[in-house]
Amino acid sequence: MIIRASLIQSSQTSDPLDARLESWSDGAIFVENGMIADVGPYEDVRARHPDAPVERLRGGLLLPGLIDVHVHYPQTGVIGALGLELLEWLERITLPAESRFSDPGHARRQARLFLRGLIGNGTTRALVFGSHFARAQAALFEEAGAMGYPLVSGLATGDRNLRPELHTTPDRAYEENRVLIERFHGKSGLRYAVTPRFALAASEALLEVSGALLREYPGLMVQTHINENPREIQTVARLFPAARDYLETYERHGLVGPRSVFAHDVHPKPRELARLAESGAWVAHCPSSNAFLGSGIFPMKDHLSAGARFALGSDVGAGTRFSLLGEAMDAYKTQRVRPDGIRLSPAALLYLATRAGAAALGQAGEAGGLEAGKSADLVWVRPLAGSTLEAVLAEADSSEHALGAVFALAREAEVAAVWIGGRMVHGRGMLQAE
Ligand code: GUN
Ligand code: ZN
Repeated sequence: MIIRASLIQSSQTSDPLDARLESWSDGAIFVENGMIADVGPYEDVRARHPDAPVERLRGGLLLPGLIDVHVHYPQTGVIGALGLELLEWLERITLPAESRFSDPGHARRQARLFLRGLIGNGTTRALVFGSHFARAQAALFEEAGAMGYPLVSGLATGDRNLRPELHTTPDRAYEENRVLIERFHGKSGLRYAVTPRFALAASEALLEVSGALLREYPGLMVQTHINENPREIQTVARLFPAARDYLETYERHGLVGPRSVFAHDVHPKPRELARLAESGAWVAHCPSSNAFLGSGIFPMKDHLSAGARFALGSDVGAGTRFSLLGEAMDAYKTQRVRPDGIRLSPAALLYLATRAGAAALGQAGEAGGLEAGKSADLVWVRPLAGSTLEAVLAEADSSEHALGAVFALAREAEVAAVWIGGRMVHGRGMLQAE
């Protein structure tokens, strides 16, 4: 199959500030066995594959699938709980909502809604913070596996300072993780991430179990939270008097390396930034959440100067939507209001929402761009008739402006079609054959 559209991607780089746009206003992607097999100007691709059927996407832009490196499965229903800071928001709103995932029926319904939320916003791969309930976590893996969604996720764990029904023990955490890993990791495109919630909710023994699992099962990821909020950071310092800083609570148990993703890092210390960079760990930058909970503005310049890598996370439900296009715009705007803020280009934002996410997931060879050999993960953003986006795209005279307008204006309903591994998972019936 050939998909004919206006294509845009970011260039291949490892520095967001070096990212450039690559675009074909009348471009085409030849998809074979779920993979991108050829890409370029439509006439050239057509000539090389004259017998392939053509799907033509008129209007809008076709982008590589977006990649969310931090989003919570059990939090769709809490989006929009205004007026609270992190620890109040967890205690009053979010942990009670997560407790309801002990009901398997609720968990399964929410798993479907969650995956629909990702896909409906063009997110084709994600590192997902799981539920504290093993059965609820299995439901998410089952639903994702059944639809071919390449999920990376794991059971959230904590053994203190949450709510009693969310607490596990180190032994139980080990056993439940082990069962889930053996059942799902590496099957149907699913991958497992060990997921201690944050040091504030973890004993040394629980963090040690997390490290033991990573050593025992090659290829796992690890995800947690770090340096989000001043009160959280002070509490962690009190709970771990022997640790020099927040990162060291994880480091001491072998949780800091190239397969690690730390969400937020709004208030890092210089030693932590240096250590993140040196270890090859990733930070999930979650701009809408950081603003929503009043956590602070991400010190992007400090991360860039230290060489600490980061990609974008929606952090639903402290994040205010699933859309990584919106998240990219919030990354842009929040940097603009920091005195040392980075002026991110449209290419840098697209890089952060695609290639950086793929690299953070250890999938840079599989996803994040439109090169031949990558999975055909694609999102078509098409303006609604009569929308502001339609009006702006009609005037845009460069791919930079068009993409900037998409970041600023595209709504969920304008994510017109989504493909994962060459299979359309959203928007069926909207396309016209050539
Ligand atoms: N830190 C620990 N748990 C959470 C969570 O659910 N959301 C956010 N934003 N931070 C956290
Ligand atoms: Zn989070």
